[in-house]
Amino acid sequence: MENTTDTDYKVGDLIYDANIYDGLNTFMSDFMFYKNWMPKDTNAEILELCCGSGRLTIPLAKEGIKISGVDNSKSMLEQAVLKAKYEKLEIKFIEADIRNLDLSIKYDLIFIPFNSIHHLYENQNLFDTFKVVEKHLKDDGLFIFDCYNPNIQYITEAEKGRNKIAEYKTKHERNVIIEQTMKYESKTQINRIEWHYYINQEFNSVQNLDMRMYFPQELDTYLKFSGFNILHKYGNFDKDKFENTSEKQIFVCKKNI
Ligand SMILES: C[S@@+](CC[C@H](N)C(=O)[O-])C[C@H]1O[C@@H](n2cnc3c(N)ncnc32)[C@H](O)[C@@H]1O
Repeated sequence: MENTTDTDYKVGDLIYDANIYDGLNTFMSDFMFYKNWMPKDTNAEILELCCGSGRLTIPLAKEGIKISGVDNSKSMLEQAVLKAKYEKLEIKFIEADIRNLDLSIKYDLIFIPFNSIHHLYENQNLFDTFKVVEKHLKDDGLFIFDCYNPNIQYITEAEKGRNKIAEYKTKHERNVIIEQTMKYESKTQINRIEWHYYINQEFNSVQNLDMRMYFPQELDTYLKFSGFNILHKYGNFDKDKFENTSEKQIFVCKKNI
């Protein structure tokens, strides 16, 4: 069959420029959710895939959790390493692609937080990632991740124009304004988002933030066929059941052995 996706789907460098990212993403509403799933055994090994600049990795390690982080962005990892050093934390950060990660140990819990699977544009990318998780997870280990529940009404509204979605100051006192446009491709399920950056009141650049939408029934099925049982599916970080109007899909899975 002909390949269904183009090859130019991408995320612009400025999106994962760690200082620009950290200034925007200061929320911690998912932290308690992930913390509460961590094993009580302090020897348990935890792996965070797509750890970025350590927004969750660092505070989890501060709780005494033995955690390693994987990401493929140099800028994000450098920031994570700096933060860990500042906090005097021993965290192993690995620069790698989660689709073909190959480490020699197995983990008690693997998680992929903050919508990161939306960067896996083709089905095969997701299947490869699930295979990586399956290979690195202990038989009784937990696999947890979150992503959006695609909201067609929201996308339709957002497609109508350019909307200011953020204004903030970075650690280095740069004023950042982000305006967003989007165009959803129904053939590939990829939401072609563009962020128009203004830094210190001057136009800086347009950055792509392409996001593959995963619909609820397909994700349930992909997990099942990839050898996972879904223990819980939540619609938000307060652990409400996944419903029609849920903003998120949050999965807690175990290997089907
Ligand atoms: C939305 S951010 C989440 C970062 C962090 N976990 C957080 O909660 O703030 C997504 C991260 O996924 C990383 N990423 C995207 N595709 C990846 C891939 N194929 N392999 C490894 N990391 C990837 C990006 O570099 C980015 O740091």
